[in-house]
Amino acid sequence: MDKLLIQGGVPLSGEVRISGAKNAALPILCAGLLSADTLTLSNVPHLRDITTMLTLLGQMGLYVTVDEKMGVAMNGANIDKREAPYEMVKTMRASILVLGPLVARFGEARVSLPGGCAIGSRPVDLHIKGLQAMGAHIDIEHGYIVARAERLKGARIFMDMVSVTGTENLMMAACLADGETVIENAAREPEVVDLAQCLVSMGAQISGAGTDVIRIRGVEKLHGANHRIMPDRIETGTYLCAAAATGGEIRLINTSAAYLDSVIDKLMDAGCDISSEKSPNHEAIILRAPKKLSAVSIRTSPYPAFPTDMQAQFMAINAVASGTAIIRETIFENRFMHAVELQRLGANIRIDGNQAVIEGVAKLTGATVMATDLRASASLVIAGLVAEGETLIDRIYHLDRGYECIEEKLSQLGARIKRVH
Ligand code: UD1
Repeated sequence: MDKLLIQGGVPLSGEVRISGAKNAALPILCAGLLSADTLTLSNVPHLRDITTMLTLLGQMGLYVTVDEKMGVAMNGANIDKREAPYEMVKTMRASILVLGPLVARFGEARVSLPGGCAIGSRPVDLHIKGLQAMGAHIDIEHGYIVARAERLKGARIFMDMVSVTGTENLMMAACLADGETVIENAAREPEVVDLAQCLVSMGAQISGAGTDVIRIRGVEKLHGANHRIMPDRIETGTYLCAAAATGGEIRLINTSAAYLDSVIDKLMDAGCDISSEKSPNHEAIILRAPKKLSAVSIRTSPYPAFPTDMQAQFMAINAVASGTAIIRETIFENRFMHAVELQRLGANIRIDGNQAVIEGVAKLTGATVMATDLRASASLVIAGLVAEGETLIDRIYHLDRGYECIEEKLSQLGARIKRVH
């Protein structure tokens, strides 16, 4: 199993290119199921989760080609299997995103229930309820969601909680339903907007994406389109945190500050100087870190508030900041597993339910630590980059699910980091 070996203490410096967004690419790949024509995507990140999704879609009969620049072309004319098996769903919960498109286009789907995961129970009841409201008949059989429908009907759906993939699944399903669907309390995440833009270019009629009420007027069928995946705001935020924690200075290209207000605000509160350069076809974010960061408290919430996917990285920067920070996690239960690993590096963190209190320490010292989930792994990398001496991070397959070429990108910024087998 691969591990990452980091020799800490080097301030990051230089330029790095941000990849396409994993969480936009995953639902957009599933949108390929909605049409018999070809959907062509660019800026698709080269990640384990993307490969898993392409394998799953390929098993269903979606014809996929990938070029050397990760341009992906998908043709859905010959889909003959409407199933997502347990083996795939358990490795990647986002597999649930095939449910809506399959029922909407073929009137049937068999998708494994995801079960628990490292960051809590994460149910999919909202996905199921929404499809039922559109007239789908749903049974749970042998651990699978079995959905059937003649043609889905437009419906008014109130989402009890803000769910990103729930909103995306139902929005995709509603594109081919008969009549108008209104999703209330919809997720406003930029990835939902990116998916909506792709669907619109395929002929869907959607308004309100990016607000909490999305209206979709169903059409008979969708056609092919070209779409460029938006930049990854969480990868962007992670590199900003890594530069901030190491007292560095970096420039991120192929990204946008537009979706990162809450994160940039907090980094500025911590003492970083952040600016962006914008021209019609180019945007860059530049961060200059102070010698010592100030502690910043955060509370995670749905977009546009502070993202839960940046919580772990902020725990790492607070570990070496001056002062005390409080982190409240309101989206997921059990999302503090990185805290005990950070403690192994010398961080002073107290956990009380969904709240963590972090007292900044003068220095961290390298140790062997274990990655537990994707963003937890990112926080360990950041801490390892700051720590004195050598940090060995085990189980980095989590990182490969969501960070493209992380050791190459960090090396390019001057970090002493290598992958060991
Ligand atoms: C997506 C992101 C993930 C991010 C999360 C929150 C993708 C592929 N993943 O995950 O990186 O951390 O949003 O921003 O885009 N819930 C229910 N019932 C449901 C669905 C969700 O109770 O049917 C709850 C969840 O347990 C959680 C909350 O709603 O407490 C938000 O989860 P949700 O937005 O659905 O997360 P994902 O879409 O799985």
